[in-house]
Amino acid sequence: SDPDLVARATAAKAALGDRVFVLGHHYQRDEVIQFADVTGDSFKLAREAAARPDAEFIVFCGVHFMAESADILTTSAQKVVLPDLAAGCSMADMAVLGQVETAWDQFTDLGIEGDIVPVTYMNSSADIKGFVGRNGGVVCTSSNAKRALDWAFEQGQKVFFLPDQHLGRNTAVLEMGLTLDDCVLYDPHKPNGGLTAEQLRDAKMILWRGHCSVHGRFTVESVREVRERVPGVNVIVHPECRHEVVRAADQVGSTEYIIKALEAAPAGSAWAVGTELNLVRRMALEHPDKRIMFLDRAVCYCSTMNRIDLPHLVWALEELVAGRVPNQITVDPDTAKYARVALDQMLALP
Ligand code: 13P
Ligand code: SF4
Repeated sequence: SDPDLVARATAAKAALGDRVFVLGHHYQRDEVIQFADVTGDSFKLAREAAARPDAEFIVFCGVHFMAESADILTTSAQKVVLPDLAAGCSMADMAVLGQVETAWDQFTDLGIEGDIVPVTYMNSSADIKGFVGRNGGVVCTSSNAKRALDWAFEQGQKVFFLPDQHLGRNTAVLEMGLTLDDCVLYDPHKPNGGLTAEQLRDAKMILWRGHCSVHGRFTVESVREVRERVPGVNVIVHPECRHEVVRAADQVGSTEYIIKALEAAPAGSAWAVGTELNLVRRMALEHPDKRIMFLDRAVCYCSTMNRIDLPHLVWALEELVAGRVPNQITVDPDTAKYARVALDQMLALP
């Protein structure tokens, strides 16, 4: 990275001292990760944000929904900064509150809403988390989805899972013994979600039709191709990948899980990794004794995660040094109150 920008970021961070805490998601660029006080998956970063009441500013190098969650979990005196406001998440954008409320009204008309526990993936707006908190549900991440679903099925007979159909289906079918027939797909762009009353009454998992476009690019063909090309390769993927891809892989887990698996792997072993490219590249560089490669031939960055680059980070830090708070992320108090209920429920999972 540009030495001038590195020097400016270093100087601005030093000037701010303990007043600032920089969080970096594993999908961030190396040039940004070098300035993170802590790196993690979205679960770890939510906990880290909640555990830093003394930091006046939390600079979140990640995407918008993560910064919103940090704002909800920090004190009202703390300010959360997202270095580029255009760093959103296309999956989170696939569930809009109005659509979710329409679906819930439909469940109410059918008389089944009392049986349903809403569960939302962390990758959702604060509005959606607020909806889930108001209706007795829980937030989950890719590292605790099974525990969240176990809890939800203790509270009710059905789960309404938002917004990632793949994490919902993969967890239900591969970790909880449900069948594919127990799951139905609710399409917000079709009348009544494209489902009949009978399908909704029979389903155990009602999956929102959302997905991650980055992980959606991995295919069974990518798995077959790498196994042919690299005999003995271990295929490890993120649960946002499609069901058939996860089935074809050897291991599945969150970004934090993937990092630990690669760290623990014996020297000389070969790994094809199905997750965002910044993380895979970094792991390959950090472990030259292992053969760590990207699962697909095509380049696969998360374009919105990549929007946070060193120039944006330098700008955000220098603004803070100058006494201004740039790109502050705030969640309105009523939404925050209920979203916090769903987030606290997640943090309290056994
Ligand atoms: P985790 O960090 O929870 O594994 O999630 C991956 C992701 O897509 C974040 O946007
Ligand atoms: Fe959203 Fe996918 Fe990017 Fe994660 S990798 S931030 S789920 S678009």
